Amino acid sequence: MSTLLHAQGISKSFGGLKALQNCSLTVEKGKVNGLIGPNGSGKTTLFNVITGYVTPDEGSVTFEGADITGARPDKVFALGIGRTFQLTRIFARISVLENMLIATQHNESWVKGLIRSKSTKSEVDNAMALLDFVGITRLANLQAGALSYGQRKLLELAYVLVSDPDVILLDEPAGGVNLTLINNIAEKIRLLNQQGKTFLIVEHNMEFVMGVCDQVTVMHQGSSLTSGTPSEVRQDPRVLDAYLGGGDDDDDDDLREAVANV
Ligand SMILES: Nc1ncnc2c1ncn2[C@@H]1O[C@H](COP(=O)(O)OP(=O)(O)OP(=O)(O)O)[C@@H](O)[C@H]1O
Ligand SMILES: [Mg+2]
Repeated sequence: MSTLLHAQGISKSFGGLKALQNCSLTVEKGKVNGLIGPNGSGKTTLFNVITGYVTPDEGSVTFEGADITGARPDKVFALGIGRTFQLTRIFARISVLENMLIATQHNESWVKGLIRSKSTKSEVDNAMALLDFVGITRLANLQAGALSYGQRKLLELAYVLVSDPDVILLDEPAGGVNLTLINNIAEKIRLLNQQGKTFLIVEHNMEFVMGVCDQVTVMHQGSSLTSGTPSEVRQDPRVLDAYLGGGDDDDDDDLREAVANV
């Protein structure tokens, strides 16, 4: 297996807060890679660094061996790195299908997409095929704001697939979603992975991580603590310490809840 995406020695501070400190991550091509860690450990910030939304203070990001450190989000996206956001970025006042068509036009060109109002039949067909893949064709003409939280997660997955990315970064795809939908999302990820898609998934639900991930990196206080198979990291005492440690941390209850799933 070869390395598709690599972050090396990433540091990032926001004011005095060190969100990332010498953090490294390897995403293997063709695998479902997991990224776990307590609340505030820097997972989303690392996603933001990789996808160009945040510029690191130190360190480098390479994709297929090429340096993409500091590249803007549209450039990173055009290279074949797709992502979802922890807080969904679906447009609530337009339909599910219209959301998909916006993704289609962004795929073609951000600027052109903004000025072109008509979609071609093949774009609509492709959008509908992806909605069908995630199982929400029946919702195509509904206002996206009317979707349940879980249905929005499915729409986000369809949305990110529009650009046919090589690697897909999912930020908490199962967060706040009921068990049936979690299983549905896991199944889609497995299917896409069999078709050759590489994934990097941030998720607190350990059952989900165990079920879909080939390997997992654990983050703690802005650094990568360890990497291994889900069962290896689950048995690593340092991982449990990371979740339960922190003493006076306000997030302690959250951490205990998260680790209860382990
Ligand atoms: N734009 C920002 N400005 C200031 N602080 C930030 C910013 N983004 C993140 N942080 C801080 O950086 C730290 C890491 O946050 P991050 O969102 O990356 O954690 P996370 O691992 O994704 O947490 P969670 O599991 O709760 O989503 C936190 O202390 C957070 O408050
Ligand atoms: Mg996060």
